[in-house]
Amino acid sequence: MSTVQTSLFNHHNPAIIRIWHWLTVLFFFASISTVLLHSTLFETRDNIGMVQEQVAEKGGTINAEQAKAVAHEFSDKLWMAHKFIGFGIVFLFLWRIVAEVVVSKESKLSSKIKFALKLPLSNEERKHYLLVKYSYSIFYLLLFLMSVTGLILAFEEVELFDKIHRPVKQFHGFLQYTFYLFIGLHLVGVVKAELTKYAGIVSGMIHGKGNIS
Ligand code: HEM
Ligand code: HEM
Repeated sequence: MSTVQTSLFNHHNPAIIRIWHWLTVLFFFASISTVLLHSTLFETRDNIGMVQEQVAEKGGTINAEQAKAVAHEFSDKLWMAHKFIGFGIVFLFLWRIVAEVVVSKESKLSSKIKFALKLPLSNEERKHYLLVKYSYSIFYLLLFLMSVTGLILAFEEVELFDKIHRPVKQFHGFLQYTFYLFIGLHLVGVVKAELTKYAGIVSGMIHGKGNIS
């Protein structure tokens, strides 16, 4: 007789959350790419000389201030892309809220936390499982803050938003590091889980069938 040991992690996420997850991965990497490109290849200061050289090669002349305006236009384009990807992220945040409402009771993050809290302290997985689920709750809180601050920056023509633009921008910029931390820990966590006790956890996030034994 085979005894199948079930795990707390052996749940299957419904399609609405799985599709949300992989779209979120895509949009986050796109958003972070714009930030990285902005501070590397498209750094305005570093490109002023390049613009001047190119114009000179074609027989023209351009002073540093004019060249700066050209170089700056490229970084502006990147922020424009960042803003539109950001609207996508805001949409995904709303999607996740709707998902939390419409999925079955046992698939809700809140129910999973409540369920684990009721387990006896001696349950081996309880602490680990709660830590993982709390990290997701913190992620959603940060996502909310990132979305709100991003929207305030995106609609700077609103007078009230314009007044608070500077501190909001600083806070929005700071929040990025919390996401780098989450993504780093999350990736280490899922890879470790996949290679140890929870093989199948990553494919489970794709096909939705719980197969961890
Ligand atoms: C993956 C999540 C995100 C990351 C890592 C991120 C990162 C950043 C960073 C580092 C800045 C520059 C801040 C500074 O210069 O001090 C920025 C600016 C900005 N972000 Fe985000 N952001 C994210 C999500 C969003 C979202 C959801 C929106 C909503 C639309 C948004 C809209 C903006 C806007 C409008 C700016 C100002 C760009 C400008 O200077 O013209 N971002 N973001
Ligand atoms: C390719 C990289 C990634 C892989 C392989 C991956 C894999 C997974 C897996 C297997 C789970 C389910 C774990 C569990 O049952 O607790 C999960 C959940 C989750 N992942 Fe990822 N992930 C990746 C990247 C990301 C990124 C970039 C983000 C966000 C920035 C993210 C956010 C989340 C969140 C919020 C959950 C919890 C979903 C929920 O139950 O509410 N993941 N991920």
